[in-house]
Amino acid sequence: MKHTTNPSRRRFFAQTGAGLLAWAGLPGWLHAMEGMGDMPKIKPHKTSPHFHPDVEIDLICKPSAVPILPGQPTRVLQYAAKLIKGPANTLTEIAGSYLGPVLRFEKGQKIRINLHNQLDTPTITHWHGLHVPAEMDGHPMYQIGKGEILVYEFEMLNRASMNIYHPHTHNLTGEHVYRGLAGAILVNDLEERKLELPSGEYEVPIVIQDRLFDDNNQLIYVRHMRDRMMGFYGDRILVNGRPDFQLDVASRAYRFRVLNGSTARIYKLAWDDNSPVTVIGTDGGLLETPVNKAYVMLAPGERLDIWADFSGRKVGSQLVMRSREFSGVLPMMAERMMGGAGHGRMGGGMHGSALPVGSDYPVFSIKVARQVGDGPALPNKLSTIKRYTLGDTANPNKPVPIGISEGPMAMQLNGRPYAFNDILPSERIPVNTVQLMEIFHAHGSHGGPGKHDGAEQGHGMQQGGMRHRMGMKHGGGDNTEQGGHRMGGMGGGMMAMAHPIHMHGQYFQILSRTVNAGESEAYASVKDGFIEGGWKDTVLVMPGERVRLIKPFEDFKGLFMYHCHNLEHEDMGMMRDFSVE
Ligand code: C2O
Ligand code: CU
Ligand code: CU
Repeated sequence: MKHTTNPSRRRFFAQTGAGLLAWAGLPGWLHAMEGMGDMPKIKPHKTSPHFHPDVEIDLICKPSAVPILPGQPTRVLQYAAKLIKGPANTLTEIAGSYLGPVLRFEKGQKIRINLHNQLDTPTITHWHGLHVPAEMDGHPMYQIGKGEILVYEFEMLNRASMNIYHPHTHNLTGEHVYRGLAGAILVNDLEERKLELPSGEYEVPIVIQDRLFDDNNQLIYVRHMRDRMMGFYGDRILVNGRPDFQLDVASRAYRFRVLNGSTARIYKLAWDDNSPVTVIGTDGGLLETPVNKAYVMLAPGERLDIWADFSGRKVGSQLVMRSREFSGVLPMMAERMMGGAGHGRMGGGMHGSALPVGSDYPVFSIKVARQVGDGPALPNKLSTIKRYTLGDTANPNKPVPIGISEGPMAMQLNGRPYAFNDILPSERIPVNTVQLMEIFHAHGSHGGPGKHDGAEQGHGMQQGGMRHRMGMKHGGGDNTEQGGHRMGGMGGGMMAMAHPIHMHGQYFQILSRTVNAGESEAYASVKDGFIEGGWKDTVLVMPGERVRLIKPFEDFKGLFMYHCHNLEHEDMGMMRDFSVE
């Protein structure tokens, strides 16, 4: 069987992958990538004379080196920022971290950000969670080359919330984020300010990431196809860019702004003394009332606002935030090989991570370092959220389908790999509407689209066709482990895994989650960790699970991406555009 590779693409990968990709082992993968198409080259947006910013920032992407482990510094890619105009608290560096500074904005502010690309690859920055015009959203079609500058200008329309800035480079999002390009955005507003929540040193960003280092303290990224299919997992947990993160606290209440900045790793966060985790907010800001959970799930791209009260704890006492055991997020076969919970430990193994997904390990620790008088008390009422109902949607009987296709070479959405300007009828959304949407696993034993309407059946057929084509392409002669013949008869069932599905544009509300009966055991190990009732932009969809949500598409026309926030999946093409028109 012959595999041909587009020579410019090969060069592109050879350069950008810097020898990380084992070419010989990956014919099927390369083949699958051929479908991803290229991006148009669009002139970068320039400063507009009619836009009068309240805040202006220079944001520079550049290679750098930071000490992380004892010994050699680690080569990273890094955001650096300079405040040109605006309040002094707009930028807060995280000392000693490769992470970009925390950007703090106020609802209503007019913001200009000048992105400077000093990398050897193209790049683009996306404001994950922000409701901005399509041209300001960091779509890869706007990515800029080395030495170029892109000017973002937008008004902050979001309510108080924690968001993320990170690259969205075509095929390179995962690698860029992994090597260090990411930072937190905190938005404040009046509703939040009235609560007088812990602030200043008592409001702590907690960015959780996992990384894999070689013997010279350099980052190792994707080594083989498995790292793409399952996602890439490091064996060390970093918080705010530091290993073995410990926070010295005073005996009072804190506000932890937690963000999963890992490319693929999913956490099940719980305090080691089994005291409840008090959640006051999700991706899209404060909940209406606090909720206490034994544990909370946090998938890549998701955020949690956690209230942690250390009053009454003795000086010197310790508390550890752990990730607890769970199962079901990886395909069954892989879970066994990676030594995930419930399937016996194989430690690292040939393909596994020394820190298996779903095993129990510490994430960070707290030490009560000083006694102080009373801090603020937890408010009972946090915010007001207008709940959407089916009656608010334009399509109560015909949800916009987001079918997760899990194939041997192809993690896809709606049966298609990402391609620019490849909009399905169901992906055209009238502007200023509120849409019912449904995310489901489209392949295999987990059931196809529900019995709702004809539109989904159309999708089902499309997926069938796609699968057939995949079989033709990869079956038979391809004898790799991921080759067609192993999967052929089984559909996507064996490949079913959890996907954090993220949508650009406005936040959404989750209407319902249902899961196939067959999934109940694994599902039981995670289900109490989902937070209902808040605004979200990323939702973890478990194997066999069907999630219905309601999302507004207001104000802006244009292309808004939706994709898996397992960034290895995103880079494989598990991404699509909605065309809001
Ligand atoms: Cu956080 Cu489209 O990404
Ligand atoms: Cu986003
Ligand atoms: Cu995924």
